[in-house]
Amino acid sequence: MTDRYVLAVDQGTTSTRSIVFDRSGRMVAVRQREHRQHFPRPGWVEHDPMEIWANTQRTAAQVLRDVAAADGDVVALGIANQRETTVVWDRATGRPVGRALVWQDTRTAELVTELSARPDAAIVAERAGMDIAGYFAGPRLRWILDHVPRARERAEAGELLFGTMETWLIWNLTGGPEGGVHVTDVTNASRTLLMDVRTCRWDADLLAFFDVPAVMLPEIRPSVGVLGTATALSPAIPIAGALGDQQAALFGQVCFAPGDAKCTYGTGSFLLQNTGTELVRSRSGSISTVAYQLAGEPVRYALEGSVAVAGALVQWLRDGLGLIATAPEVETLARTVRDNGGCYVVPAFSGLLAPHWRGEARGLVAGLTGYVTKGHLARAALEATGWQTRDVVQAMEADSGLSLAALRVDGGMTTNNLLMQFVADVLDTPVVRPMVGETVSLGAAYAAGLAVGVWSDVEALKRNWHRSAQWTPVPARARALSAEYPRWERAVQLSIAWGAP
Ligand code: G3P
Repeated sequence: MTDRYVLAVDQGTTSTRSIVFDRSGRMVAVRQREHRQHFPRPGWVEHDPMEIWANTQRTAAQVLRDVAAADGDVVALGIANQRETTVVWDRATGRPVGRALVWQDTRTAELVTELSARPDAAIVAERAGMDIAGYFAGPRLRWILDHVPRARERAEAGELLFGTMETWLIWNLTGGPEGGVHVTDVTNASRTLLMDVRTCRWDADLLAFFDVPAVMLPEIRPSVGVLGTATALSPAIPIAGALGDQQAALFGQVCFAPGDAKCTYGTGSFLLQNTGTELVRSRSGSISTVAYQLAGEPVRYALEGSVAVAGALVQWLRDGLGLIATAPEVETLARTVRDNGGCYVVPAFSGLLAPHWRGEARGLVAGLTGYVTKGHLARAALEATGWQTRDVVQAMEADSGLSLAALRVDGGMTTNNLLMQFVADVLDTPVVRPMVGETVSLGAAYAAGLAVGVWSDVEALKRNWHRSAQWTPVPARARALSAEYPRWERAVQLSIAWGAP
């Protein structure tokens, strides 16, 4: 008797992973390949789309072989991807016109300032659900059209296609130049600034605003539903789900009820709170984004707090400062001291995203005295991630009126007990981590498996969620951190002022 499995591809910022899950949500096979980060100029970050496509094929083929050896039947493929990373390619040859511009890339700063100053700029927040910022894909696409020789002319002639990474992979998986399907899902489309977040269609006025030709855009589809057949894999499998990776983590954490929230602590940290079928307009600096859509059902929305630097700060302590040899050592070092010694680190390496949206902010260490040791610095670096979580939760609660009963967490930094306890205390909210830490891949697998009937409904998915750890707030610590919070806010204001022109 063969088992029915689901394959997930998680195309992330640093690597591509293929994971096969069984019906209980258990990982059966996993393969991963990192890709190169290109930094051609300060603030520019690029990926080679062909390298990512090759890594996808290779890791997927490997896990399919692993599973075939175990007599399993993989019945669907779901894709989760780093969001906002932008690629444009030639529809006849399948060759990209250049490297993909990554979500961390800040080259559109000037363009964003220019666009934001236009008298009709308010249309972007009104239709797309978020203010113009260099974080989103639309300005990157515009940059490519403006800077790659003949790109605009060729795009207008219908020769070039645009996509975020799931679109690029689906097109290649389904045949590439020979009949590849050119689609995106609502969650990824909601990160372009080109889609009307209420109707979930490309918006003619937004396209005119960003000067982007409609002919190069993919068709927008639900996140859960068959998108095409991955004929590039053997055996060929239906691609039945696609979601931006942070929305996939929300799905994998089974946050299906309004108010449910998760935070993924990776390179950056991304907190999403389900707001149900209601689009909540943010006035406090969070983003109104699409959470997911099941085919034939209404779109579900979320508020999001995106923080660019979380684990990346620990990497910097390791690689930039040489303060630690491995990332987990940051906790050991931070535990050599009792508190932060009056020190605050604001990791605004490429500006600040939510809730401030200040591209010009720059990182700083505030409160240095001769008393401060590397232990205090390590502690302040970890606390920076906790304080930023509080910043985004406050903004979100102000917007949605939904207060967090508990925060579900995942990602590499959740093995750091000191940090997780700090998050529980600084939010004064319990923090819980599930058994399956690969929530991004799990969410993509759940989406695809739901579409083909591996799971009957979202209730079946909820039964798969099991807690592996919980951090409970300590009331006295929560009170002390609330009293300390204005000092953090002051440090943030200093980092914004430092970068001001
Ligand atoms: O918005 C960017 C986000 O999707 C990147 O996530 O996990 O690939 O760094 P990750």
